[in-house]
Amino acid sequence: MDWGMKNRLSRIIKPESGRCVMLAVDHGYFQGPTTGLKDLRKTITPLLPYADALMLTRGALRSCVDPENAPPIVLRMSGGNSMIRRDELSDETLTVAVEDAIRLNASAITLSVYVGSPHQKQTIANLAKLVDKGQRYGMPVLAVTAVGAELVRDARYLGLATRLAGEIGAHFVKTYYCEPDFEKVTSASLVPVVIAGGKKIEEKAALEMAYKAVSQGASGVDMGRNIFQSEWPVPMIQAVRKIVHENATVEEAWEIVKEAGAKD
Ligand code: R5P
Repeated sequence: MDWGMKNRLSRIIKPESGRCVMLAVDHGYFQGPTTGLKDLRKTITPLLPYADALMLTRGALRSCVDPENAPPIVLRMSGGNSMIRRDELSDETLTVAVEDAIRLNASAITLSVYVGSPHQKQTIANLAKLVDKGQRYGMPVLAVTAVGAELVRDARYLGLATRLAGEIGAHFVKTYYCEPDFEKVTSASLVPVVIAGGKKIEEKAALEMAYKAVSQGASGVDMGRNIFQSEWPVPMIQAVRKIVHENATVEEAWEIVKEAGAKD
């Protein structure tokens, strides 16, 4: 791996642990004003000190994050879809030039790949284009394995999508945790895997998911709603960090959220 590529990636996945806690707040690119992100600046400002990287769109970055005080940025590069056309969610195109990502000093660029969906080929081609550009500039690419409405989030599907993304050239992959057999997803991946949090669930269940994911080979999380939609967002991201970076148990991490007022 080239020096610049390695340097950028190591801002996100910490070389000392091989782990990372990314905060995902890019939901608005197709969901608009998502619950918890209506005032994006207000939501993310207290969380930034605890995020190894921040995943968002260029519009959100320019308007809601101060350049003097930003963690490493993972810039969302795909879009063109919206919640209104659920049947066409996979119909994404590249929406940002790599040169603009460089201008914004992104540490990585990211897009969704919809394996098994109507626009599978188009989104894999988007990934290939981004990887080729990324290679030229030393910019790592995070592939997000998105799921079509009709597809099941099991180890077979997620393993296929994750492996495929690495084969096309993604430098790391974001996928979902699944049971059983999540370790089959990570062990067959060519590159580091991080998990999305998915829909908001109970705080302790979200911590359990993070724990099980890293125990089964994930390099960390790229979590959104289970942090920023929690009643205790800062304790939640602190607790997730404790699991990911300190190998804490769920009970040890849960103490942080409990102290903030969460009930067992
Ligand atoms: C989905 O396409 C986006 O990348 C989301 O930002 C992300 O996957 C969601 O994170 P979470 O599921 O943890 O809210």
